Amino acid sequence: MKIIRTVEEMKEFSKKIKESGKPIGFVPTMGYLHEGHLSLVRKAKEENNTVVTSIFVNPTQFAPTEDLDQYPRDEKGDSAKLKKEGVAAIFIPTINEIYPVDYQTYVEVTELTKNLCGRSRPTHFRGVTTIVLKLFKIVNPDRAYFGKKDYQQFRVIEKMCRDLNFDVKIVPCPIVREKDGVAMSSRNKHLTEKERRDTIILHQSLEKGKEIILNGERNSSKIIQTMKNMIGSKKTLKKIDYVSIVDLYTLKDLHYVDRNILIAVAVYFGKVRLIDNIEVIIDAKNNA
Ligand code: PAJ
Repeated sequence: MKIIRTVEEMKEFSKKIKESGKPIGFVPTMGYLHEGHLSLVRKAKEENNTVVTSIFVNPTQFAPTEDLDQYPRDEKGDSAKLKKEGVAAIFIPTINEIYPVDYQTYVEVTELTKNLCGRSRPTHFRGVTTIVLKLFKIVNPDRAYFGKKDYQQFRVIEKMCRDLNFDVKIVPCPIVREKDGVAMSSRNKHLTEKERRDTIILHQSLEKGKEIILNGERNSSKIIQTMKNMIGSKKTLKKIDYVSIVDLYTLKDLHYVDRNILIAVAVYFGKVRLIDNIEVIIDAKNNA
């Protein structure tokens, strides 16, 4: 397994693979890898001869008030995990390699980024699309793997590729959860024991919301209120950012559940902001 730190070397590596006619599967990450990340690597390995993973804590997707400095890092541990999975190369650039001092170009998906996390993190997705586009240019993959844990991110990147005529196939992958249902996340490590126990309510409330819908409830505000009451019952809850019912594709709010939807939540436990979601398919025919 190669560890590559420069753009030039990464491009050269990918060029050689492409010349051999074999596909590259790509898994972009910010490191501190857990089973959620590794599930994407495994899927990429199933579908591609060569898998490249990147580890880069991307500063442009963090607002000045957010947790960039506290973002956990473990290059050694990550490399060992990726080696075991049969990854061909890890791209670990420095910040300067990606954003030299005179850097000034950004790419933005305008509509899909307005709702959900885009409301409270208005510059976040522009940072995500910019880095992912740059990584796609450098790594030149045939397929790229994204977790549905960050559902809005997956839709935004899918849209960017379609709008900019990129040929990379975006492959969404299911959310990997701990035994108690909590979605795996690098940020879980910052939770106290009590907070961690309370976070179980996120998945439970999402399952409840889905159950109510499948039993016939169609009024979004009723479903959202039931979920908010459940989440609000936890002592370590600091703040609910949103509980939303949105169209699965446009991510726009829906007053009534008249199609396939996503229920998405963002919540603070202590200082830690956690997100989770669940798809609810009421019309299997229209689940493209
Ligand atoms: P990061 O948070 O490291 O996540 C990397 C990938 O792993 C993302 O596609 C994310 O959705 C996926 N992932 C994280 N937790 C998961 C889980 N529990 N189950 C399934 N997939 C999970 O997302 C980013 O990094 C960055 O925004 C990035 C795309 C790398 C751009 O900087």
